[in-house]
Amino acid sequence: MTRGMAHIESLFVTRLYRAPLSEFAPKIDAGEMENSCLVIAEDDEAGQDWSEKNGYPGYTSYASLTDLPWRFPIFADLVKVLDQHVAAFAEDLEFDLDGRALKLEDLWINILPEGGMHASHIHPHSVISGTTYVAMPDGASALKLEDPRSARMMASPARRADARRDLKPFIYMKPKVGDVLLWESWLRHEVPMNMAEDDRISVSFNYSWT
Ligand SMILES: [Fe+2]
Repeated sequence: MTRGMAHIESLFVTRLYRAPLSEFAPKIDAGEMENSCLVIAEDDEAGQDWSEKNGYPGYTSYASLTDLPWRFPIFADLVKVLDQHVAAFAEDLEFDLDGRALKLEDLWINILPEGGMHASHIHPHSVISGTTYVAMPDGASALKLEDPRSARMMASPARRADARRDLKPFIYMKPKVGDVLLWESWLRHEVPMNMAEDDRISVSFNYSWT
């Protein structure tokens, strides 16, 4: 932006990637993916117990099923697609990967019922994290992303409600079913309360540099 003689530029940019999964092959059938998540959750008693004991509303396979792509062909296909999205994002980020690829580290299902939420967190030990959206009923919560510098803003005034998008302290993303979002793993994010009567279903994942 230029104002008179002044030149103002944006530095230290935070990139956020959004795309339909279908941009890359193979095709992931949305109905089959939703059904697979529900069937897996129903059969995964260890995961149900873990979710209950750890105060996770609904269900996550995070602690119980570490090998979804080996067990279920649709998840193997999903990883093939995600690998390509992550590679495209790494290209946009201009990472110098030194000949080593970003590789899937974890992939897990989240089923968030009405009233469920997932508190603010980052994904340590990873480079790229993301989520693909499997069921987003009307009223399902967005993903809330936080300015990574917020902890340093001791005396800053708040930003105006109509501030430019790239100046806002929080961004709410409301993806569609079949979309994938990617961000750098240090970016703090949360899922606010799900106000939909129906479950919000998503599959999240981490990629590391190996
Ligand atoms: Fe997360």
